Amino acid sequence: MILQTKDLTKTYQRQGQQFDAVSHVTFSMEKGEMVVLTGPSGCGKSTFFHLISGITVPDSGEIIFDGEKITSLTPQQKTTLRASKISYILQGDSLLPNFTVLENICLPHQLSNVTNPEELSSKAMELIQEFGLEKLTNDYPTNLSGGERRRVAIARAFVHNPLMVVADEPTSDLDEENTKIILDYFQKQSSLGKSILISTHDLSCLRPGVTHYIMRKGSMKFENHIESLAKN
Ligand SMILES: Nc1ncnc2c1ncn2[C@@H]1O[C@H](COP(=O)(O)OP(=O)(O)OP(=O)(O)O)[C@@H](O)[C@H]1O
Ligand SMILES: [Mg+2]
Repeated sequence: MILQTKDLTKTYQRQGQQFDAVSHVTFSMEKGEMVVLTGPSGCGKSTFFHLISGITVPDSGEIIFDGEKITSLTPQQKTTLRASKISYILQGDSLLPNFTVLENICLPHQLSNVTNPEELSSKAMELIQEFGLEKLTNDYPTNLSGGERRRVAIARAFVHNPLMVVADEPTSDLDEENTKIILDYFQKQSSLGKSILISTHDLSCLRPGVTHYIMRKGSMKFENHIESLAKN
């Protein structure tokens, strides 16, 4: 098991009212598993992702990643964890505008000093090829299309070879072709042993071989009707 949460809860307040954005979630994922999380806007998907990657502190419950209790780590240890083992692709656009495609892929990892610089650039060039971004290597994000920018963000998330990649709506606003490129890549990486967790509103992500969970009002439920859902 790579990730496990036990009775995980995050409570927020709005207009004097408390509510559980994530409510008593007990969840687990195996090494090499690809999990797709769906659910209406505001149901708690991004909050759950922030919790498991150590960005947000839960009010109660436990998170165990690769045998380590995330809830017991110091902020510095959580930063190291994100720089090495668990890679988080944020919802929306997250590239640095003043840096080229190649710099965007490598820079965060160079700063964290976790990966050897030569290994990093050669892996970055490999990913640039894999995603068909060769001509854009030295170009800036503003000159790229949404699909190209998304592929750069995904390359950045995989370049340092993490154990798990968490991607918040990685195919939103993308056309069919770009969606397919990204999903094919995720499935290939999962078959090679990486654990992939994505959230989406796009039911084309519910491919055979992935595990599907639905979130509603902070609660998470396993859904085992992938084949029939994908056709509908
Ligand atoms: N820092 C915060 N303070 C108060 N409420 C918050 C905070 N962050 C999120 N929320 C609320 O928690 C709920 C869950 O939000 P979250 O961003 O996790 O939803 P989501 O499922 O990712 O939605 P979407 O599909 O639109 O991205 C929402 O009602 C949101 O308004
Ligand atoms: Mg969200």
